Amino acid sequence: MSGFSPDWLALREPADIRARDPQLLATLAQHLANRNGLEVVDLGCGTGSNLRSTAPALGPGQRWTLVDYDPRLLASARETLRAWADESAEDGASLVLTKDGLDIAVRFRQADLMQDLEAVIGGKPDLVTASALFDLCSADFIARLGRAVAAEGAAFYTVLTYDGEQGWTPPHRADAEMAAAFNAHQQIDKGFGSAAGPTAPAALALAFRENGYSVLEASTPWRIGEDEQALVDALADGFAGAAAEIGRVSPDVIADWLQVRRNGCLVGHTDTLALPGE
Ligand SMILES: C[S@@+](CC[C@H](N)C(=O)[O-])C[C@H]1O[C@@H](n2cnc3c(N)ncnc32)[C@H](O)[C@@H]1O
Repeated sequence: MSGFSPDWLALREPADIRARDPQLLATLAQHLANRNGLEVVDLGCGTGSNLRSTAPALGPGQRWTLVDYDPRLLASARETLRAWADESAEDGASLVLTKDGLDIAVRFRQADLMQDLEAVIGGKPDLVTASALFDLCSADFIARLGRAVAAEGAAFYTVLTYDGEQGWTPPHRADAEMAAAFNAHQQIDKGFGSAAGPTAPAALALAFRENGYSVLEASTPWRIGEDEQALVDALADGFAGAAAEIGRVSPDVIADWLQVRRNGCLVGHTDTLALPGE
């Protein structure tokens, strides 16, 4: 199990959808426009949020491989995608979806990316993609990803990589101290070696530029207000829990910080598009 519950991923999905940069996605769609039967690999797919947001911008025939190491999330992805589609059917190992005139065949693959990255990406996909994944990964793993994607000649598109920026409404005198502790916690090993955390967007750009890709980036923060109070509360609790776990802020300060009821927050992210040979 990954520690990411289907409920948490569902809670964040509307904020993720709003934050994504439409221009970067349009540029990707243009790059892939003349290809038939797009092959797409989605790394760390969770419940399939990235497919639901990205597939509608791409061509009419698509084959997606959704990869995660958590079987519970893969099962939830299957059900969530069935509910999202206009029609769905099982076809051997694939789930075949029809959505707004698009045909999307989906396969689900349980794999640990740390062990199996090259095998999962192999097979000359047109696109390797991921959402909210690479801040969990180490700089070494991201460099390996750049080499693996370049070896396949695939386009690369990832959204919602945490970039370290954050702000709370109303503010608190310990916000900066708490943010420093949270960002240190972001760099704890999440299964890929010491995590890049807020440095992941820079590591991604470097990894792809070193392999001759052109890289475009967009700032895509979550801007969450009181109409999504449950998400604000969950983020504040998670933020305080991370600060407590890493032990750099006194428990009294954390308790005082948690007493304030927040009605808004900003969490910085970056979307990254890397295209070969341009
Ligand atoms: C923050 S969640 C994002 C999920 C989904 N992409 C989304 O945007 O909703 C990170 C995902 O990466 C998966 N993950 C983490 N480490 C992994 C690993 N070593 N191998 C495969 N999947 C992994 C988790 O199970 C989880 O689904």
